[in-house]
Amino acid sequence: MGIPETLRWDGDRLVLIDQTRLPADVHWVACETPEQVAEAIRGMVVRGAPAIGVAAAWGMALAARGARGHGRDAALARLREAASTLVAARPTAVNLAWAVAALLAHAEGTPGDGAALAEALTAEARRLHDADVATNRAIGQAGRAVVPDGANVLTHCNAGALATAGYGTAVGVLRAAHEAGRRLHVWVDETRPYWQGARLTAWELVQLGIPATLITDSMAAHFMARGAVDLVVVGADRIAANGDTANKIGTYGLAVLAAAHAIPLYVAAPRSTFDASVASGAGIPIEERPEAELTHVAGRRLAAEGVGVANPGFDVTPAHLIAGIITEVGVLTPPYGPAIQAALAARSPSYSAT
Ligand code: MRU
Repeated sequence: MGIPETLRWDGDRLVLIDQTRLPADVHWVACETPEQVAEAIRGMVVRGAPAIGVAAAWGMALAARGARGHGRDAALARLREAASTLVAARPTAVNLAWAVAALLAHAEGTPGDGAALAEALTAEARRLHDADVATNRAIGQAGRAVVPDGANVLTHCNAGALATAGYGTAVGVLRAAHEAGRRLHVWVDETRPYWQGARLTAWELVQLGIPATLITDSMAAHFMARGAVDLVVVGADRIAANGDTANKIGTYGLAVLAAAHAIPLYVAAPRSTFDASVASGAGIPIEERPEAELTHVAGRRLAAEGVGVANPGFDVTPAHLIAGIITEVGVLTPPYGPAIQAALAARSPSYSAT
């Protein structure tokens, strides 16, 4: 069937594939207000750093369209209110705040009343959406060189087409290597507690015809020790100015294991995932997720009643454990501070706010 679009604009509403129901059901959710988009982000209907950024951009367009009959000041007030609601939906992936800030700045820089802002923000969200796909394809082109022919690659969480507006970041790198004719095999971490690997990455790789084997997160060390993993490629939710990278919980553990086995770990991410305002990983907020994700499986309680539960959604991998950061402007290598500054200043196909 191919991988369906993560999100699409339907003329006057945003339509999202419901990622909480994949792969069993392909079901679509329509959003007509920014509040509905925020709810979809909070509820993981749409997830993955770039995808929530693009969804939030459309959320801002929806807010502007809802204020079409208003004067400029009232429309801008509505946009600021929508911006706070959207940014508050999830704290770790910086693409969300980045996209909302870009759309708000675009509105502030566009003259005219609510109708003019609605038209401008709809066009701007379209531009950001299309640029995300182009950016991911560029990440794939830049990153495929790190995947040798015959490689066994381990990945964690879902950083594929579903986590973006299309093509994917970490999975995009694997996809680009596959499209270039390289043979590869992917070890897919199931990614507890939310199963993004088992449900989403495994499904995408099957659709793409890339050989893949599902493992529990705790099996990675075993396969690394046996020489069955040549490299690790993961996505990112926020990368600090020094290269420290927040990604799905379990990534840091993988990075430590990879270092212990002299296996390179690469992060693949667009420049919209860099947060130059945060000096190191210590400044990245980590989302605490609901207890039920650990205690229950498919709605049924498995964990002992009365036990305490911790459920951080992300962890931070220190820059020194990362062999390279694959971006749309090339593969960055240490020292990351200057490499990130240069990447952020470089020209590229990716979106820049106007
Ligand atoms: O909680 P999620 O599913 O939104 O977490 C997603 C991840 O951690 C991804 O690896 C990351 O956003 C990169 S997506 C291209």
